[in-house]
Amino acid sequence: MKNIVLIGFMGVGKGTVGRAFASEFNVFAVDTDDLIESTENRKIKDIFEDDGEPYFRDLEQKCAKWLEKSVDNAIISTGGGFFKTKSLKKIGTIIFLDSSFEAILKRIKEHPNAEKKLAKRPLFQDTKEAKKLYAKRIKEYKTVADIIIDVENKTPKEIVFEIKKLVNL
Ligand code: S3P
Repeated sequence: MKNIVLIGFMGVGKGTVGRAFASEFNVFAVDTDDLIESTENRKIKDIFEDDGEPYFRDLEQKCAKWLEKSVDNAIISTGGGFFKTKSLKKIGTIIFLDSSFEAILKRIKEHPNAEKKLAKRPLFQDTKEAKKLYAKRIKEYKTVADIIIDVENKTPKEIVFEIKKLVNL
């Protein structure tokens, strides 16, 4: 069960940090949205459109079970709602990447592929709605987390070394 599990809101940089950690410390990086997309052979956006959010949440639960049973010594980045899966803690050490909503929005908007980044996220179509979801989830993320890392104004490399200092992988 020696995995690091990155949780946090959409666009905070879980995937970027996971990949940076993997290349720095030579471990495998896994991403739950990528796993779900490849298993379903379609994009998250299409899963939401065709089958709805509850179906997607079931896939996340299946994915959590598989990670728990089958994956070790990896850094795992997760979709923004994955933290709600049952027995999440059995997968590994849970790290919450903490940032204000404003900084997340800025990060997405400043990305060269900003439009694509937003388009692929069904729950980030409306900024007001996304902000409400953020407000609702922020406490929940903190409750579930073993470790909270403030990522605002830090480079992926800085965050990666902070994680390494705190967790052995
Ligand atoms: C979701 C976040 C997305 C993706 C799906 C639902 C959420 O992942 O899993 O669109 O509920 O917050 P990212 O956090 O990588 O955007």
